[in-house]
Amino acid sequence: MPTYPPEPFRIKVTEPIRLISREAREAALKEAGYNLFAVKAEDIFIDLLTDSGTGAMSQDQWAALMRGDESYAGARSYLRLKQAVEDIFGFKFFVPTHQGRAAENILAACLVKPGMYVPSNMHFDTTDANIRARGGRPTNLVIDEAFDPSNPHPFKGNMDIAKLKAFIEKIGVEKIPFGMITVTNNAGGGQPVSMANLKAVAETYRSFGLPFFIDAARYAENAYFIKTREAGYENKSPIEIAREMFSLADGMTMSAKKDAIVNIGGLLCVNDEKLFGNVKNELILREGFPTYGGLAGRDLDAMAVGLYEGLDEAYLGHRLAQTAYLASRLNDAGIPTIQPAGGHAVYLDAHAVLPHIPNYEYPAQALCVEAYREGAIRGVEIGSVMFAYPDPDSGKIIYPKLELLRLAIPRRTYTQSHMDYVADSLIQIKARAESIRGYKFTYAPELLRHFTAKFEPL
Ligand SMILES: Cc1ncc(COP(=O)(O)O)c(C=O)c1O
Repeated sequence: MPTYPPEPFRIKVTEPIRLISREAREAALKEAGYNLFAVKAEDIFIDLLTDSGTGAMSQDQWAALMRGDESYAGARSYLRLKQAVEDIFGFKFFVPTHQGRAAENILAACLVKPGMYVPSNMHFDTTDANIRARGGRPTNLVIDEAFDPSNPHPFKGNMDIAKLKAFIEKIGVEKIPFGMITVTNNAGGGQPVSMANLKAVAETYRSFGLPFFIDAARYAENAYFIKTREAGYENKSPIEIAREMFSLADGMTMSAKKDAIVNIGGLLCVNDEKLFGNVKNELILREGFPTYGGLAGRDLDAMAVGLYEGLDEAYLGHRLAQTAYLASRLNDAGIPTIQPAGGHAVYLDAHAVLPHIPNYEYPAQALCVEAYREGAIRGVEIGSVMFAYPDPDSGKIIYPKLELLRLAIPRRTYTQSHMDYVADSLIQIKARAESIRGYKFTYAPELLRHFTAKFEPL
């Protein structure tokens, strides 16, 4: 057997990419204020900024687009999506949304009041910001192993049940509108949550009478990790595992741009009928009528097909092997990444690659800039640029425990040789790491600052 994962698809349509010169890359960086979000896509060679909405749709999804029913209310496309959502997730009610953060915004608008706390393993940035935007306090209670990049724990997305119980007892249930968990844990390295932990989390929330919501963006990858890493699940299919996961919860938010392999879309599912009434009112105010939720009918059809394709075993097997392949090439060259390899992305430990840059000079941002400078590769900083915020009580800046460069792999988009190109470029950077300097902000908005911030090299 080959040691690399062969793609379980062949290519029918191509999209050209080009590698611009080193001088042009330098000019692009300067013009963008050293923020890769501000670099034009045409100036990127390998775009690993995100796996969100960047995947390649299948022939069946493109065919489904043509069946899109653009009726304002009660479209056939909505009913096809409803069937898939009910079949896989099993919640009583759902609405489509234009993407994951719209679902989070609606949930927070309905339930979060100023001064309330929402626990999770780790909230992703948009969930975090949507809770803060309503005056709430997102709280991360992932297991300690998650903060040790070299620890090979198979389920580093797990929540610390003892911490969760102590937290609920300390804060009091009246100040907690609901509890969450993110599968897989994007902010902590794309690490999965075990079924045993999901059960314990559900049981804990239930024992305190708190509703339990899953952030389901990468539910299929999580299901495949359970299949391959958790005893008792090896003979179950990803869809059976997914059904069991969601049977434990009272609802979910989902960015369909990940495991439903669509370019745009999201879902908000709930079991509580009264809450669903409020959800619909918020949705109509912000997104659209409940049977399209800010999407075109064709988007709903593509999502209905993609939800099943994302659970296909051959697809999932290749996807997770591709991520592991990139991580192992880097590790073999002495570049540490979060262990074990995550589902959708490889997370480079920027502290380890650039130990001379302190967190207040943004080492992961520096590594991100170098990846572009070296190979026109775009990744994203997940460190102090994204997550260092002042503590609301003391005003003191709290720095995250990890400084990471995330290389997120779009689904069904890049090949083996693209992964080798990325690995070889990063190996070049490692060879000249000592000469790399940190950055300072020249502009930073209050929330979600990584999207629009500007920097200057030190
Ligand atoms: C775990 C998780 N939750 C929520 C979101 C937000 O989804 P969207 O970008 O569709 O708004 C993301 C996006 O990256 C995510 O990774």
